Amino acid sequence: MCGIIGYIGKTPEKVLFDGLKKLEYRGYDCAGMTILRAGKFTTYKSIGKVDSLKEKLFFNDSLGVGIAHTRWATHGKVSIENCHPHFNNDLSICLVHNGIIENFHVLKDDLVKRGKSFYGETDSEVVAKMFEHGLTIKKVKSVVDNLTGSYALLMLDKTCNDIYFAKNKNPLYIAFDDEKVMLTSDSSCFNDIFDSFITLEDGQYGKVSLNELEIYQDDKKIDRPKVTKCFKSKAIGLGKYSHFMLKEIGETKSVLRKAIKFYNARGIKNIFKNLPCGFEKVVLIGCGSAYNAGLIAKGYFIDAGLNSECILASEIEYESHDINEKSLCIFISQSGETQDTLKAMDFCVKRKAYCLSLTNVVHSSIARKSHFNIDLSAGCERAVASTKAYTAQVFHLYILAFLLKNRNSQIEDLVKEIKEYIDFENIEAKNIEHFAKKYLKSRLLFFIGKGKDSILAREGALKLKEISYLPAFDLPSGELKHGSIALIDKFATCIAICSQAKTLSKIASSAEEIRARGGKVILFSSVDAGELEDCFDDVLYLKSSGKFDIVNLIIAMQKFAYFVAIKRGCNPDMPRNLAKSVTVE
Ligand code: F6R
Repeated sequence: MCGIIGYIGKTPEKVLFDGLKKLEYRGYDCAGMTILRAGKFTTYKSIGKVDSLKEKLFFNDSLGVGIAHTRWATHGKVSIENCHPHFNNDLSICLVHNGIIENFHVLKDDLVKRGKSFYGETDSEVVAKMFEHGLTIKKVKSVVDNLTGSYALLMLDKTCNDIYFAKNKNPLYIAFDDEKVMLTSDSSCFNDIFDSFITLEDGQYGKVSLNELEIYQDDKKIDRPKVTKCFKSKAIGLGKYSHFMLKEIGETKSVLRKAIKFYNARGIKNIFKNLPCGFEKVVLIGCGSAYNAGLIAKGYFIDAGLNSECILASEIEYESHDINEKSLCIFISQSGETQDTLKAMDFCVKRKAYCLSLTNVVHSSIARKSHFNIDLSAGCERAVASTKAYTAQVFHLYILAFLLKNRNSQIEDLVKEIKEYIDFENIEAKNIEHFAKKYLKSRLLFFIGKGKDSILAREGALKLKEISYLPAFDLPSGELKHGSIALIDKFATCIAICSQAKTLSKIASSAEEIRARGGKVILFSSVDAGELEDCFDDVLYLKSSGKFDIVNLIIAMQKFAYFVAIKRGCNPDMPRNLAKSVTVE
């Protein structure tokens, strides 16, 4: 959360603004930029999305040095004072920060005692105030040595044209050529501008100018940092769609087809040939939708005869489990930068577990730190709510479970088995839109299911609440009568999920109980309800095809959330209070 970018070169205002637009998914509470030219700082700040900064900017084609920031508020309200860049007391040094400084209260108290004054409430301003004047590598090191927490920092000093930097637990990348230098939270900012880039690792700090790059770790200069090639990016537009979320849901099918093609072409045994055998347990770890994907996959691993559990990354330190050198820990993360998931990985590494990751960003921290990474290849997800990447996570985990069960089987067996699963019919969006409109006035929406459908219900409720801001919850249908039924009145609507014929009668009984109390029930089903249809107010049938038929249900729930959000006037691509990449604990 929060995106930072620094640049040395011509047209810095334009380059930094374009970069901020690419980083906006990391937070959009406010944005700011400081440009240094001829020893003078010019600062622009604006509340709201990055576009709000544009009208304030004075674009200048000449050479300059600049740093910029798009904020997801952690400490302090959304205000101009709390907007980055932040300055030291004599206004000679400024910085942008992504991360959280956990000991900022102690540091601030100390600075106040030493006569420093503060204009805002952020932990980042505290770091700025720790600098006197005259930035040097040594001073950067001595400041960051006093910080506890996470940071990617870019700093400017009025008296020189270098950008100083430091990194711990939050991503930071550098690219440069003879004419320009860029530092940023996301390497995709380099695409089409640079040929290659360097990934900074935790504990590294240094400075960069047009002529020289110096990177240090533990007081020693790093000689040859590893260089990675940049991608040529395809322009990502909306096409015929009104929002990225709808577009990305629509891409699910092609993402899954591409994955099958990949496994088919490379051969599943080849792809996984370096994956060790003999694990006693599979532990799936993630947050939010990624955790929900893990919950579904847990069933696949258990069906494959493997002892399996799924743990929320943020809870791993507080739960009882026996993760050890015989555990295969699978870290699921679209962004590959989720701080809770990274921390959980450190936890498992300490216990000598084998770490496999499933990410949608190949250069991400989680991908780099794991022993083995599976690239989701779902394509960039611009909408904050995860859709096609979530389905891809479930799909790749399905394949992995298959592989662990059938280590010697041929890819052909698998392809034959799964091809039919994703040969699903397109879902009739109009029906879903109609339901969204019909049940829009509900004051409470909740999702029920049984077995794996109750896990789908969990994802359905998450998607709905995050983009439509409606209170939504989920539970296994049998649990209703044990408490939550008290919430039901004529303003409540239930979405019942059914992908298994054996659960239909139980779901129908729950529907009757809800309707008896005035609530409405819509059934999303891939099995024929027959006479039980009468137990529901509305039924949406989704074509079923084999074991992977949950894809249809997932898409239907995602579209339902999308249309509810639209009809409530919410922007599903950038929901309030959220950011795409959660790089704070
Ligand atoms: C929900 C959503 C979030 C993410 C979660 C983990 O739509 O997108 O719940 O799934 O923040 O993010 P990643 O997958 O990037 O680790």
